[in-house]
Amino acid sequence: MNSLRFFLDSRFGLVAGGIGALALVSTILARPQTAAPVAAPLNGGAERIGEAVCIACHAPQNKQFSHTQHAGVFRLNPKNEKEKLSCEACHGPGSNHVKEPANRGSLIGFTKEWGTPVAQQTAMCLACHEGGERMFWPGSPHASNQLGCSDCHNPMAKISATGLLKKPTINETCYTCHQQQRAEFAKRSHMPVNEGKLSCVDCHNPHGSTSKALLKNDSVNETCYNCHAEKRGPFLWEHAPVRENCLNCHAAHGSNHDKLLTVARPFSCQQCHDNTNHQSSLYNAGQLVGGGAAPSTRIIGRSCQNCHSQIHGSNHPAGARFQR
Ligand code: HEC
Ligand code: HEC
Ligand code: HEC
Ligand code: HEC
Ligand code: HEC
Ligand code: HEC
Ligand code: HEC
Ligand code: HEC
Ligand code: HEC
Ligand code: HEC
Repeated sequence: MNSLRFFLDSRFGLVAGGIGALALVSTILARPQTAAPVAAPLNGGAERIGEAVCIACHAPQNKQFSHTQHAGVFRLNPKNEKEKLSCEACHGPGSNHVKEPANRGSLIGFTKEWGTPVAQQTAMCLACHEGGERMFWPGSPHASNQLGCSDCHNPMAKISATGLLKKPTINETCYTCHQQQRAEFAKRSHMPVNEGKLSCVDCHNPHGSTSKALLKNDSVNETCYNCHAEKRGPFLWEHAPVRENCLNCHAAHGSNHDKLLTVARPFSCQQCHDNTNHQSSLYNAGQLVGGGAAPSTRIIGRSCQNCHSQIHGSNHPAGARFQR
């Protein structure tokens, strides 16, 4: 009986709540439509005071800032009212901050010490930079690990040639947190990232993506084909693991084996081809040079590829075994 009452009560609660919400919506709709404010003040009803006031106290910061893309656009060629706000376009209206500079709730700051919630910081930047590359920012691994834009960007100074980054290069910016990847790119065979031929963002979109590991493209292979287009094929004779995923054999960043292979040859091949007659016979003791004392000369160097050279696929009519 009691539970039935509760059930009814809660039903009523819901209905009442529904009516309340409806009433609220209609009140809002009934209000006269005034021009929307340029940006909702996030910091407790503060007002705009203009950049001249900010600069009076923050001359050193302004000097650095003056060399950035934002300063150039906001001051010389603003496209809209928001860009004219300059400092306050990012930091929010500053009247409360001027009264109480030490009160950290009075202004939107982007440093860890200042303590403005990350979501509030991000909202300021996304007000102008939503969509595009940042289409998948919400819920991305970086966003859900509480990174803010200022973990990688520093718009207060021109530190990098492009992208207003915190460090002079993209790779250094990423390495500040991704130490393991720094080690991978230092291995004997590696993608020429540290040599400056490509950078993390040639393969990743740090702002979010639809694929695993923030890749720029929908799959690993599509990402690799951007530069290694000849591996896309089509081939008359496809090698199944190549079509499936380049990472079946290669490491994406670096490896201590030749040609970024995850495993040394011939073991790389034998992970999958270990019980055909051909392979086992190749390594029968009797077939090895010197009656078994030394490895076969057929597997030195390029190993299986001394014969199966077209390992990514072949277009030769007789290339079914990738020998030509
Ligand atoms: C009266 C001088 C004064 C004026 C005017 C002023 N500030 Fe400040 N501001 C300060 C002081 C002092 C601090 C340091 C407070 C602290 O660290 O406790 C500060 C700190 C800051 C910070 C630090 C945030 C951080 O991450 O550490 C930012 C951002 C900032 N001000 C921006 C502005 C902007 C934007 C304006 C104009 C809207 C402005 N200030 C106007 C005195 C001023
Ligand atoms: C495009 C957005 C943006 C604009 C415009 C901007 N700032 Fe900043 N500001 C930031 C970010 C992001 C940081 C945090 C940088 C970091 O991580 O050190 C910051 C940091 C600061 C700091 C504290 C750290 C420091 O460098 O001392 C002050 C003070 C500051 N800004 C003042 C200003 C003033 C004054 C202006 C206008 C002349 C301005 N900002 C314009 C985004 C902006
Ligand atoms: C994990 C690091 C990282 C984070 C976090 C990050 N960015 Fe970026 N961003 C980059 C890198 C790297 C580039 C490329 C810079 C280059 O090409 O020189 C970039 C480029 C950009 C660009 C210029 C190119 C373009 O897409 O138009 C904008 C604008 C930008 N980021 C805005 C943001 C905003 C807004 C946020 C926060 C929501 C953010 N970024 C968070 C790393 C980051
Ligand atoms: C009022 C609008 C506005 C706000 C707010 C804003 N930006 Fe921008 N941002 C711009 C404009 C305009 C450009 C210049 C675009 C261009 O040159 O095409 C720009 C350029 C950039 C670039 C690219 C620089 C390059 O190399 O081309 C980055 C990175 C960036 N902003 C990051 C941020 C971050 C991080 C924040 C928040 C702290 C922020 N922006 C806040 C308008 C804004
Ligand atoms: C402030 C620290 C920080 C910086 C700087 C940073 N990252 Fe991350 N990154 C993280 C964290 C935290 C995660 C999530 C935890 C993890 O997977 O290690 C992550 C995850 C990733 C992932 C894996 C996502 C997944 O789905 O497994 C990639 C790829 C990545 N970051 C690339 C980059 C690139 C590229 C840059 C430079 C543009 C960068 N990161 C800069 C902190 C950072
Ligand atoms: C040649 C393309 C390429 C470049 C350049 C590249 N990555 Fe990756 N990265 C990948 C691929 C592919 C994966 C693995 C995706 C998977 O496992 O499905 C990956 C994975 C990651 C991961 C997830 C953890 C892991 O190792 O699997 C992180 C973090 C990461 N990369 C960071 C970076 C950073 C930081 C840089 C720049 C210093 C960078 N990557 C440069 C292609 C690249
Ligand atoms: C942005 C361009 C770019 C992308 C994307 C790219 N590569 Fe590369 N890759 C290069 C360059 C540049 C080299 C060095 C070529 C040279 O030195 O002649 C290279 C070299 C290699 C090598 C040979 C390494 C050696 O030791 O000789 C392998 C294997 C390789 N890439 C695999 C991949 C795989 C797998 C992917 C996808 C995860 C990929 N690449 C994505 C540019 C790229
Ligand atoms: C079945 C294992 C395997 C797969 C899967 C594979 N590769 Fe390779 N790849 C190799 C081997 C082995 C070599 C060394 C070839 C040599 O020494 O001639 C190599 C060499 C390379 C090279 C450098 C030499 C050259 O041929 O240009 C590139 C670039 C490369 N692979 C890219 C890729 C890409 C991109 C994919 C995915 C589409 C991929 N590989 C998938 C085994 C593989
Ligand atoms: C990830 C597993 C895998 C790896 C690693 C691998 N292969 Fe394959 N390979 C396959 C599969 C699956 C087929 C298709 C077999 C089929 O069609 O019956 C194949 C087919 C072949 C064929 C043609 C065989 C036939 O019956 O048509 C040759 C030759 C071959 N691989 C050689 C190699 C060599 C050499 C390597 C090392 C560089 C290698 N494979 C690495 C999985 C792999
Ligand atoms: C001396 C040249 C040579 C070397 C080295 C070699 N193969 Fe072969 N492989 C052949 C020939 C020839 C065939 C048969 C071709 C045919 O029947 O059309 C073959 C056939 C194959 C086939 C097809 C299925 C089968 O068993 O007949 C696979 C898979 C294969 N090789 C894998 C490998 C692997 C893995 C290695 C390295 C461990 C390797 N091969 C080393 C010459 C070689």
